[in-house]
Amino acid sequence: MPLLSERVGTFTDSVIRRMTRISNEYGAINLSQGFPDFDPPRVLLDALAKVSYAGPHQYSVTFGAQNFREALARKVSKTMGRTVDPDTELCVTCGSTEAMMAAMMTICNPGDKVMVFSPFYENYGADAILSGARPIYIPLVPPEYHFDLKLIENGFRQGAKAIVICNPSNPSGKVFTRRELAAIGALALQYDAFVVTDEVYEHMVYAPNVHTAMASLPGMFDHTITCNSLSKTYSITGWRLGYLCGPARVIDGARKVHDFLTVGAAAPLQEAAVAGLELPESYYTELQTIYTRKRDFFCSGLDRIGLKHNIPQGTYFVMLDIRAFLDLPQFQGYTDLEFCEWMIKNIGVAAVPGSSFFREPVNHLIRLHFARQQSTLAEALHQLEKMAALLPDTKQSII
Ligand SMILES: Cc1ncc(COP(=O)(O)O)c(C=O)c1O
Repeated sequence: MPLLSERVGTFTDSVIRRMTRISNEYGAINLSQGFPDFDPPRVLLDALAKVSYAGPHQYSVTFGAQNFREALARKVSKTMGRTVDPDTELCVTCGSTEAMMAAMMTICNPGDKVMVFSPFYENYGADAILSGARPIYIPLVPPEYHFDLKLIENGFRQGAKAIVICNPSNPSGKVFTRRELAAIGALALQYDAFVVTDEVYEHMVYAPNVHTAMASLPGMFDHTITCNSLSKTYSITGWRLGYLCGPARVIDGARKVHDFLTVGAAAPLQEAAVAGLELPESYYTELQTIYTRKRDFFCSGLDRIGLKHNIPQGTYFVMLDIRAFLDLPQFQGYTDLEFCEWMIKNIGVAAVPGSSFFREPVNHLIRLHFARQQSTLAEALHQLEKMAALLPDTKQSII
């Protein structure tokens, strides 16, 4: 049997998506992989129905259908505080997943260093390896997920080509403040490096926190490659629509990478999704209200049953502290992965082991998401109550 590439031996499949498969096998409530169990906005469904007969059903322009890019440019221009040119500054991709891969392949030569915060969304590790880059990890220290700017400066001094910022951040729920972004941005300018941002949770931000696009800061558009997607904002993770936004020179390079990676995102879905991009501002305000309610419902439920957790500033993820469980005799020596497997089989709720996000040896956190209908969250809390009952003292606590 011929050998496989060395590359594929250097990373595992996604733990997040593996937990979904195990969850399905045991019929658990899946709070591991982040996707909603409710429908996308009606206008999108209506548009999709129309497109099924009216088309298009053939390839669109490789870097995105003209009308889709134009609608996207109108939306993104508001976030960026400048007019984004749909013809030169956008590339439509198969989700933000492809956008990040294309961004890394566009800017990195083999051996280039790229800074990544830890904990990080697990794709970034594989993206770095696939593009030949060497990650330098910058700790985001729980429970507040603070970082040390000096470590970032050090990374740039070592010649890092870029820093990846997930904002709002998966899994920590951290929303980077304008001040933090400005400080990182100033270093990127000083060392002539890129900032690659993943902003898929831009509309899931809880007051008083606000989302700031790195590219909107003075002087930063030319140094920022923004990866984003329609997956979370319109509850259409299966449509696989994402995009890259950045200066024309970078987008020109990224379009070539994208062309040979995937040719293009699904043409009928781009056509239907224009209706989503044209929704009024009130849609995003309402979305924020809905997710704020879900966060508060889920977090107060966790408090009530006595499970320790953080309160996310953004995203739809909560980190649960399982140290009290790991101290119990029946869980002695358990890894967080083994604990998650036990949860699926015995509690009927699927979570993601925190170790899959951390570079550091962290074994006491697991990630749950609350992009679920209220009834599903209530059912999950009911199941988790059985788990909390194992603890000798179930006093509520926030980490
Ligand atoms: C931070 C982050 N980026 C990207 C993605 C994937 O986005 P897409 O569906 O657009 O590929 C996810 C999905 O969970 C995510 O959490």
